[in-house]
Amino acid sequence: MTWLAAFHIIGLILWLGGLIVLARLMGTHAAMEDPTARKALIDFEKKSYFIGVLPGFLLALITGLVMLGGKGPANYFAPGSAWGLTFHIKMTLVLGLIVLDQLIAAKMRKLHKEDEGSKGFFMATHGIVGLLMIVIVVMMKTNILGG
Ligand code: HEM
Repeated sequence: MTWLAAFHIIGLILWLGGLIVLARLMGTHAAMEDPTARKALIDFEKKSYFIGVLPGFLLALITGLVMLGGKGPANYFAPGSAWGLTFHIKMTLVLGLIVLDQLIAAKMRKLHKEDEGSKGFFMATHGIVGLLMIVIVVMMKTNILGG
């Protein structure tokens, strides 16, 4: 494994691991009755997102793009390449993960500013992010849809 791939994985652990835990925590937060306990979580959740999840995303994105540029996009996307459909599907699912990340961040801001949020939304996104992560990692390591 190259240095870039190693830091790609470290970024993914911070980004997706952080997001999965944070979404579940905010689901619990949204359903809490005690106002003091709700308030106490705000600082922890903000720091987890901005000091863990966001830098992890940037690290995964930058290392991924550098690896992509290194071998050239044709290596991953051209018809007849060894990756077949794997990379097309991977990048589509990655886009989905980025949208989910931004939705969770927007709902986190609402929870912190207006003290309002739905437990169901956070628990559902917690599960979907986890599922997408499993699908992408298995696809990448097995190249099951390779050409
Ligand atoms: C943020 C955008 C991303 C880009 C641009 C990107 C791009 C890349 C590239 C170019 C490679 C090298 C493939 C090779 O030639 O061997 C790679 C490896 C990999 N990526 Fe990503 N990736 C991104 C996000 C993700 C996500 C979200 C996941 C998992 C949920 C993921 C999982 C992996 C895995 C498991 C590897 C194989 C690492 C190894 O063991 O060598 N990537 N990625």
